[in-house]
Amino acid sequence: MDDAETLVQLRRLALLVAQGVPPEEVFAAVCKEIWRHFGGSTARLFRYELDGTVTLLANEGTTGPHVRVGERWEGYPPAGLTASVQRTGKIGRINDFRELPGGQKYADEGLISAVGMPIHANGRLWGMIAVGSSEGRLPDDTEARMAAFTELCAIAVANAQSRAELVSSRARLVAAADEARRQIERDLHDGAQQRLVALALRLRSVTDADGAAEVAADLMTVIDELRELSRGIHPAVLSDSGLRPALRALARRSPLPVEIDVRLDARLPSAVEIGVYYVVSEVLTNAVKHANATVVLVEVSVGEDVLELCVRDDGVGGADPSRGSGLVGLTDRIAALGGTIEVASPPGGGTTITCRVPV
Ligand SMILES: Nc1ncnc2c1ncn2[C@@H]1O[C@H](COP(=O)(O)OP(=O)(O)OP(=O)(O)O)[C@@H](O)[C@H]1O
Ligand SMILES: [Mg+2]
Repeated sequence: MDDAETLVQLRRLALLVAQGVPPEEVFAAVCKEIWRHFGGSTARLFRYELDGTVTLLANEGTTGPHVRVGERWEGYPPAGLTASVQRTGKIGRINDFRELPGGQKYADEGLISAVGMPIHANGRLWGMIAVGSSEGRLPDDTEARMAAFTELCAIAVANAQSRAELVSSRARLVAAADEARRQIERDLHDGAQQRLVALALRLRSVTDADGAAEVAADLMTVIDELRELSRGIHPAVLSDSGLRPALRALARRSPLPVEIDVRLDARLPSAVEIGVYYVVSEVLTNAVKHANATVVLVEVSVGEDVLELCVRDDGVGGADPSRGSGLVGLTDRIAALGGTIEVASPPGGGTTITCRVPV
């Protein structure tokens, strides 16, 4: 094969990598080019994993039951190519598989000799490219020819993989950032926004200076909460003192009488505490806005490995999640914790929200 043809081959590979095709396709293409280039019977591409195992990434040419692309390469003999390149990080050669202890399966697939070339990437042994022949002993210049060609292929292979890793980590980062934004939106909606709604309602019935001073004081706590939220922190009383004081504080701020029964001996995972806090906050606000209730009961208890939250009002009932975003947001929030939420709200029969969250 002449230089011009080699260049065409390498160009094809470089293009594939530049196009960002999935690494599996690059692996297969590299393997095929090597197989063509050396006119051998077989070409194989392996990756040495960090845990010491070996993965067969691509295969071209002869095959057998032990050749499973994409799977772990197992049962290779200690004196064979895979093991010796893994051990030494240097080129290896087998001149006759029939004489290699444990090499019979390669002889059975028709191979006589093979040369294995290490691939180094990012300062470590990344993998191996092996070329095998069924015709007899591979010529003496095989190693030198492979060295030049595989070095370039190795770059393609390693680039394809790091590019794929970069793409997927970027996707995870974007997803996490989106989720964080949604979370802030929910926190704002279920927390400060609802409390401001409650305060506005209270303000309407304020008749004296004392009442106004109370509302003003509550406004200050909403401002504090917003400040905390903007720092990515949840209500201080929740992180400092836990669910019971945080729910009491919510109840105190509600214009409706709220009876609270929190049966808890210990702190819960903070994600669960935060989830419960915002459920109670939204449901209390709903009771004030929609229920025309006279009282709300809040009960929290923890069983074997599940927290149960029940919030009940004695209002008009008829809650319907499709008419707003609050109840749907709560469902998302609780689902993210692996829990469930039920809304029972018969017309005229009050509204009961029951939440179960694994702890
Ligand atoms: N406790 C309740 N008693 C009676 N009706 C309720 C109660 N809670 C909710 N609803 C009804 O169900 C609807 C949906 O409630 P949801 O909390 O999802 O939305 P919202 O409160 O209207 O708006 P937001 O998106 O600000 O929460 C409400 O519009 C209201 O009609
Ligand atoms: Mg609501």
